[in-house]
Amino acid sequence: MTPPRLPIAVLISGNGSNLQAIIDAIQTGLPVEIQAVISNQPEAFGLTRAEKAGIPTHVIPHRAYGTREAFEDALDACLKHYAPTLIVLAGFMRRLTAPFVARHLGAMINIHPSLLPKYPGLDTHARALAAQDTHHGASIHFVTPEVDGGPIICQSTLDIAPDDTPGTLQKRVQVLEHVMYPQVLDWFAHGRLRLADGAVLFDNRPLPPEGVQLDTL
Ligand code: GRF
Repeated sequence: MTPPRLPIAVLISGNGSNLQAIIDAIQTGLPVEIQAVISNQPEAFGLTRAEKAGIPTHVIPHRAYGTREAFEDALDACLKHYAPTLIVLAGFMRRLTAPFVARHLGAMINIHPSLLPKYPGLDTHARALAAQDTHHGASIHFVTPEVDGGPIICQSTLDIAPDDTPGTLQKRVQVLEHVMYPQVLDWFAHGRLRLADGAVLFDNRPLPPEGVQLDTL
């Protein structure tokens, strides 16, 4: 049975290809409503994607605020207006303070281009290559105060090829990401996922630390 549409807000800073994957999935039946797209970067191409899809957009330029807290207060005011069930970080490049994260604990998720806990932070593809890893991929996790350190919902893995570069890996990982977010949002929309006492529950059962392995579903 199709559940009521899950209201979400998507936070971006750049290209917005993950946002586009969600928009496209909604058009083919994903039971999600993007109430608003919020960017801290005025030039983010994702804003154009949202406008094209008729989704309200907001720019909250972090540079215009004296402190992280002031920026987050503005972000919270905007979010409060929409009251989304879930906040979806999709290439949102601002570190969030612990109080902001605490206010949204269990209701905010992020996508990260590595097999966490490997390579939190930036330059994940170059770091995987430098470490001569054989596998790489992407993770979706609940957001906690530790950057890229929250409980993992799902991962998707690829084999690193001998001729892969950071550029090719980025492209290959994004192909995985564009499948992952629609899938995870579908699980949320069906009420199958939640955070309880620091653990991810999927159909009321705790997931292993690496989350659901999407390619083995
Ligand atoms: C993605 O690779 C995501 O994992 C990371 O930032 C990138 C955003 O890409 N957090 P896009 O803006 O969705 O194209």
